[in-house]
Amino acid sequence: MSTLVLKDGRVVDGNGDRIADVVIDTDSGLIVEVGKGLGADEELDCEGLVVSPGFVDLHVHLREPGMEAAETILTGSRAAARGGFTGVVAMPNTTPSTDSVAVVEQVMAAGRKALCEVSPSAAISVGRKGEQLSPMGELVHAGVRIFTDDGNGVQDAKFMRSALEYAGGLPDDGRPVVLAQHCEVEALSKGGVMNEGEWSAKLGLGGQPAEAEDLMVMRDIALSRLTGVHVHFQHVSTAGAVAMVRAAKAGGLPVTAEATPHHFSLTDAACASFDPVFKVHPPLRTDADRAAVKAGLEDGTIDAIATDHAPHTDESKERSFDEAPPGMLGLETAFAVALEELDLPLADLLALLTNRPAAIARMTDTQGAALAAGRPANIAVLDLEHQWEVSGAAMSSIASNTPFEGRSLRGRARHTFYKGEHVLANFEVTR
Ligand code: DOR
Repeated sequence: MSTLVLKDGRVVDGNGDRIADVVIDTDSGLIVEVGKGLGADEELDCEGLVVSPGFVDLHVHLREPGMEAAETILTGSRAAARGGFTGVVAMPNTTPSTDSVAVVEQVMAAGRKALCEVSPSAAISVGRKGEQLSPMGELVHAGVRIFTDDGNGVQDAKFMRSALEYAGGLPDDGRPVVLAQHCEVEALSKGGVMNEGEWSAKLGLGGQPAEAEDLMVMRDIALSRLTGVHVHFQHVSTAGAVAMVRAAKAGGLPVTAEATPHHFSLTDAACASFDPVFKVHPPLRTDADRAAVKAGLEDGTIDAIATDHAPHTDESKERSFDEAPPGMLGLETAFAVALEELDLPLADLLALLTNRPAAIARMTDTQGAALAAGRPANIAVLDLEHQWEVSGAAMSSIASNTPFEGRSLRGRARHTFYKGEHVLANFEVTR
């Protein structure tokens, strides 16, 4: 056994906030001991640094198979490691869509070589078209627990009801299936490239009203009530959606929600630059929406920070605002943006990035839990004081479409350990 001790760090996890040492067995990839005055073969001085369970991202686009010019599972996992993430859920809007066991196995095989755990989600419907259910039973058997047509919301209420009823009846080995929804009623959002409001009117760009999101959140809360099956709301961006999720939870319904750093830090005013880097679905909203999303994270209504990391090639993002694809990078900037924006004790902020998303992703066996002997050594070592300047070109992603280009941020993962492997060392990925 060869061991490494993370020495004198501020360990923040579900067991509290204290100074402790964490010993890792780098051969087995497991934590050996957490405590005071511990020694090991090697030592990493963590004084002044925060030692946390590695982060879990419920929402990343790794683009493989099919869009490898923008990202691959390997390059996306490097970005994850740099962001402090040790587990990610890969979205199924690949080419072909992740709607078959063959594609799930392809993603899993590439994931085994990645710098973090890659858990594939699969599509609710074949080709994400909302017409025919994907082979959910087989996909669950292959290990999938999150189903979503992300990029598209499921438009037909009856179809969504059937999907929930079917999913709710599947055998799951104690890890029940979650249906995650991209909430967008396309009949209302069609033709829109940004939030509908004062700014879209000023800029002469087509708008997507907040109601396009609100109506689907309202519908799926009703369907969750009808079926008793867990619905997870992806990237909530409107004040209305947050309020409805809050009320649904108060009523005891099995709903959860995530929010992205861009929706709690940026507004539709950014689109005044006509720079397509600010084009995203759902769109950046008003300041009131942004404040509501923040409040939702701060009061526990929203369960998790998820990045919706969506790499797009420079060439595609150099098209006009109308024509460019929606999406922005998120993995490398999420922690610093959350630290800057959210008024939360550190332990609560980290819960939004660790145990709470791990529970929704059904990844608690390997991710998110308090650091303890016998657990996989999936760990982020965070430097809260590190000041750095965001540069898309310097990121590990192939694409460079960060909306925070040139921004000075504070706080960054300095080290990341994935299954005991030192995948990020002093801000640099090791492979
Ligand atoms: O902005 C977005 N980009 N929203 C989505 O729902 C899909 C994503 C993508 O795949 O690029």
